Amino acid sequence: MLHSALLNVMIAAARKAARALKRDFGEVENLQVSLKGPANFVSAADRRAEETLFAELSKARPGYGFLGEEGGQRDGADKTHRWIVDPLDGTTNFLHGIPQFAISIALERERAVVAGLVYNPANEEMFVAERGKGAFLNEHRIRVASRKRLADAVIACGLPHYGRGGFALAHQETGAVQQQVAGLRRFGAAALDLAWVAAGRLDAYWERNLNPWDMAAGLILVREAGGFVSDCDGGDDMFAKSHIAAGNEAIHKELLRVLREAGKA
Ligand code: IPD
Ligand code: CA
Ligand code: CA
Repeated sequence: MLHSALLNVMIAAARKAARALKRDFGEVENLQVSLKGPANFVSAADRRAEETLFAELSKARPGYGFLGEEGGQRDGADKTHRWIVDPLDGTTNFLHGIPQFAISIALERERAVVAGLVYNPANEEMFVAERGKGAFLNEHRIRVASRKRLADAVIACGLPHYGRGGFALAHQETGAVQQQVAGLRRFGAAALDLAWVAAGRLDAYWERNLNPWDMAAGLILVREAGGFVSDCDGGDDMFAKSHIAAGNEAIHKELLRVLREAGKA
């Protein structure tokens, strides 16, 4: 499979950042017994990965803007393009030695996401998509699942944790969804949840309180794999509202209905 020059730039940057991240992941187990604990170590790994991505992407596409979780917004001379990057999505998993984490890179043109990459260095699964060109996992074309009935569906969600709000709504929503699906999952890396919807492993996914870098790459993966993405109210304001629902056409629609009813309870 020959990718475009743009995807090749994104893939090369991700592979470079992944090398250090993978080494750091290997170190996490040793650090769990150290006095300071692994948290500082992981945030340093996180920042280092973002700097590598910034350096590589800016070298290949000088002037593009850059929004990263760690460094925030860095404006460029080119106002029409912006990278949106999460150097390490699934930090808590990483910190616990759970191999479900990813580098997420998206490119926006005129405020629309036109390319996305989600890469899990632990198992070397590389998901990429470009507008109008389909979605791929390690060179193979991927499609969303074709299941139609909620009762057959496996759906992933996000859950608030210590230090966050939104517990009551999360309980209402998970309670309502749980009763209607074959399985509800919480994997802990939003970018991979979306990539897994694109690959047809999950029939749908929703989460609240996300940032653009959690969603940007994953949402184009889902759309290019033939799926539907919206905010949890069914609109197109994922970044402004900070929530997202994704799935194949039928399950996405059903999920939105269940969430709407749960919210009224
Ligand atoms: C987090 C993960 C997690 C989601 C959180 C995100 P981080 O990103 O995507 O799955 O539930 O809301 O903040 O902090 O690991 O980059
Ligand atoms: Ca994230
Ligand atoms: Ca992160």
